[in-house]
Amino acid sequence: MIVFPEKPTDNEPAGRNDAGRRGADSGVVSLRGNHAGSAEASVLPVSTGATLRFLTSVLRARAVVEVGTGSGATALSLLEGMAADGLLTSIDLDPDAQRTARAALTEAGVPGNRTRLITGVAQEVLLRLTEGAYDLVLIDATKPDYSAYLEPGKRLLRPGGTLVFRGIVPDSDLGDPARRNPGTPRTAALHELLRAVHADPSLVPVALPVEDGLLAIART
Ligand SMILES: C[S@@+](CC[C@H](N)C(=O)[O-])C[C@H]1O[C@@H](n2cnc3c(N)ncnc32)[C@H](O)[C@@H]1O
Repeated sequence: MIVFPEKPTDNEPAGRNDAGRRGADSGVVSLRGNHAGSAEASVLPVSTGATLRFLTSVLRARAVVEVGTGSGATALSLLEGMAADGLLTSIDLDPDAQRTARAALTEAGVPGNRTRLITGVAQEVLLRLTEGAYDLVLIDATKPDYSAYLEPGKRLLRPGGTLVFRGIVPDSDLGDPARRNPGTPRTAALHELLRAVHADPSLVPVALPVEDGLLAIART
């Protein structure tokens, strides 16, 4: 059973938790790209960026898949930890998001040959990617879909590779009593995901109290 703190804390002020190579004044990974038209869309908490950067670094990742390109902020963190010749494949069904992310990554100095942005429905695109060829797969998309990404994500990993889900604390476990209804689609899907992970002896999970929870799952 994965146990989480009652309420994850990730609202530290700028620079407080940044052990990476960013300056103390950069408390968020902030890309100018903002397809959703809101400031939050292009901002990533430092602890999330640092954790993603750490994971790709410790895995010496050369091939990574991301579901949910969004603004490109998580993509940038993943790329920062990857090998210099590594390739990030990032999938999003929103072409505007990908255009904006591409521009933001270019502005951040990422060469075009480091990323492969695929516009499409991730559940379909993942099936076309090569089995066992990836060091890390990040799922950062719609939470009620999360349990459906476990098998396709696992299929892509090499032994020792890691599947990461961003935002895995069910509503029912968040501190806000108004969100404790166990019947929400998000809560049901996240409980289903956690059950499936625990039922699979080939997986070694750890739930990290970063933002709304990062679930990192090593494939043995
Ligand atoms: C939380 S945002 C991702 C944030 C992003 N990682 C960032 O750094 O800004 C979720 C993204 O997942 C995309 N998405 C949701 N469901 C999807 C699906 N089934 N296939 C592909 N993309 C999907 C949305 O279009 C959205 O851009």
